Amino acid sequence: MNNPLCHVRYLCIETGIQLNVTDNNTLAVIEINSPPVNAISQQLRAELLILFQSLASQDLHSVLLTCTGRTFVAGADIKEMDTEPLEPHLPELIATIVRFPKPVIAALHGTVLGGGLELALACDYRLAVSKTKLGLPEVNLGIIPGAGGTLRLMNLIGVKAAIEFACTGKPQNADEWLNTALIHKLVHKGDLTEQALSFCRQLTLTESKQNTEADFSIQGQYIDWDSTEKRVKRLAKGVEAPALLLNEIKAIYSLGLSFEHALKRQRRLFLQLRDSDQAKALRYAFFTEKKNQKLATSTSSTRTINTVGVVGAGNMGVGIARCFIDAGMDLIWIEQTEEALLRGMDNLRKGYQSKITKGHMTEQDLDDKMQLVKGSTVYDRLAPCDLVVEAAFEDLEVKKIIFKALDQHCKDSAILATNTSYLDINSIAKVTSRPDQVVGLHFFSPAHVMKLIEIVRAENTADDVIKTMLALGVKLRKYPVEVGVCFGFAANRMYTRYGREIQQMLLEGNSIVAIDEAMTSFGMAMGPLTVQDLSGIDIGYQARAKQADKPYDLGYFRPSASMVENGRLGRKTQAGFYQYLASGEKVESQEAQLLVDNEAKKLSIIPHRLTAEAIQQRAMLALVSEGLLIIDEGIVNDISLLDIIWLHGYGFPRFKGGPMYWGAKLGCADIDEKLQLLRHQYSADIWPEVTLSNLK
Ligand code: COA
Repeated sequence: MNNPLCHVRYLCIETGIQLNVTDNNTLAVIEINSPPVNAISQQLRAELLILFQSLASQDLHSVLLTCTGRTFVAGADIKEMDTEPLEPHLPELIATIVRFPKPVIAALHGTVLGGGLELALACDYRLAVSKTKLGLPEVNLGIIPGAGGTLRLMNLIGVKAAIEFACTGKPQNADEWLNTALIHKLVHKGDLTEQALSFCRQLTLTESKQNTEADFSIQGQYIDWDSTEKRVKRLAKGVEAPALLLNEIKAIYSLGLSFEHALKRQRRLFLQLRDSDQAKALRYAFFTEKKNQKLATSTSSTRTINTVGVVGAGNMGVGIARCFIDAGMDLIWIEQTEEALLRGMDNLRKGYQSKITKGHMTEQDLDDKMQLVKGSTVYDRLAPCDLVVEAAFEDLEVKKIIFKALDQHCKDSAILATNTSYLDINSIAKVTSRPDQVVGLHFFSPAHVMKLIEIVRAENTADDVIKTMLALGVKLRKYPVEVGVCFGFAANRMYTRYGREIQQMLLEGNSIVAIDEAMTSFGMAMGPLTVQDLSGIDIGYQARAKQADKPYDLGYFRPSASMVENGRLGRKTQAGFYQYLASGEKVESQEAQLLVDNEAKKLSIIPHRLTAEAIQQRAMLALVSEGLLIIDEGIVNDISLLDIIWLHGYGFPRFKGGPMYWGAKLGCADIDEKLQLLRHQYSADIWPEVTLSNLK
């Protein structure tokens, strides 16, 4: 046999595709090596297309498609999505693989996502290393699979399962799909390529092609479309793509469309969504997060943190302890009394128990985690700690006392961190003999759930301490953001400004419900007044009481103050901006509304009722204005970090990118005009001059 591929080794340096031919030139192995995640770029598509087209005329037994590095293809190249779609498109490559005359086998490992899974689904057989993740996460980016992945999944594993993959975007374990048409073999140990080659050799030519398009048959399965739609919409958190895709699936199912017709429709929707505002904002959020995480871990001059101390076993202390335990770190936990310590341990255990009940953890996992914790009531025990986090209540004097003790009992190289939301870390650092080792670690409540952590640089904090904390933040699976010292740092300072504008709009006659509804329809996870009720209106009230340079305006947080002064602290007293029934249900409260209206009357505020859109815009402008002020003052050095703060600290709708992205989209000129109007209408103290050109 005169096979032209004999001894050929094809290597495209730029995309890193390598072709090897083995077994008397009958088995072709295509290996993709395009770090970091083998994303399927235009160049990769073009090279693969040429390769499959040229191999089609060869006398081959089969082709094995595999990837080097940490993963099989992890998706389309998201960077390309901000430009015009580039040829060859993925459907063309996929059609070529589907039509390829001999079996194509995909050897999967790592994260087989999006276009990667679509590519694998075009193959005839799929082998996977155990624990490989398979997913169609496109909806998380505001788009849908554009190359027939959903349709092929519908055919292979049924409509219901395909909906789960494509409409929720959640990756699934390959192990769960063994012995289905999705995964033909799992590789538990040994070399994946070797085992895939042996799988190929066992294939006889009679069991060659598995054409999913010709056998497209999806009828027969009962789907409760209404409840599925409700679930999909709930999980989507305002992103439109999942429900639109579900609609498509429903149409295909009920109209019995052909594969070809259905693919055309899905491709059209994909292209339409790819250019949508939601998809652009979601891509911005994706790359902003990646950039931040990379920066946080890019430095080598960080210290090793093995053992951590936590002082305080209240709610925050428990959450913070849990973060370190979950990261597998040794923990020394200090409380003033045995009772308080036991209570903390008990709450920690209860938190884990609920995970066991839900089947997310085993009793053995719990034992392993609790083994990491050593409790004590004496500070001496903190001697081995590389880092100690103080999580006592928000009182400067209490924190100073604790820091004096920490300075005395901790080793010289230990970093001392305070978990404070507002207090002046410089004055805490000053009570120690090592102000360069003192830093703020502002966790958000509940600490083990919330992804945001502010790393607060005080006047004297050493660079390597900041770098170590940023890297630690990533290790704790959080988004660490470096900020400087000011009242509320960056996060709570912006949040306070947002709250202040909400309160002003309340005083101007916009009802509690109208404001909450406006902000939830904007996409916020909760209305701002519902949030206050949930966290306790008294918390902010007390924090403001300690604020040294309070703004002068008389109406400053008066509605909240009036609630507190009338015993309406929020959910915990069954009354706040809303009333809470015994069942926990939240209902409107005329009494609360009356309290707000009385405050407005006392202050002689002229009513100024706004549309929902105008309420949203005022709230956003307040955030943009404060964010720009924070940048001007050098509290944060990268504007995109303010978006991370809002995405991960305050439930800002991801499909809107973040408040600063929102401002940049509106444009400097428009923002300038609106801020000038507000400055004129209110005052330059509330709406100060800011450097608008930072908005980009
Ligand atoms: N397109 C372009 N770049 C991508 C990418 C994609 N689909 N997926 C990841 N990257 C880049 C990241 O931006 C990062 O770049 P950087 O090093 O310049 O910051 C790099 O690849 C590594 O990604 P990272 O997320 O840090 O690695 P990880 O091992 O933690 O996670 C993934 C890997 C693949 C699980 C994760 O990156 C991911 O979920 N990617 C998106 C997958 C996706 O949505 N695919 C469908 C696209 S339609």
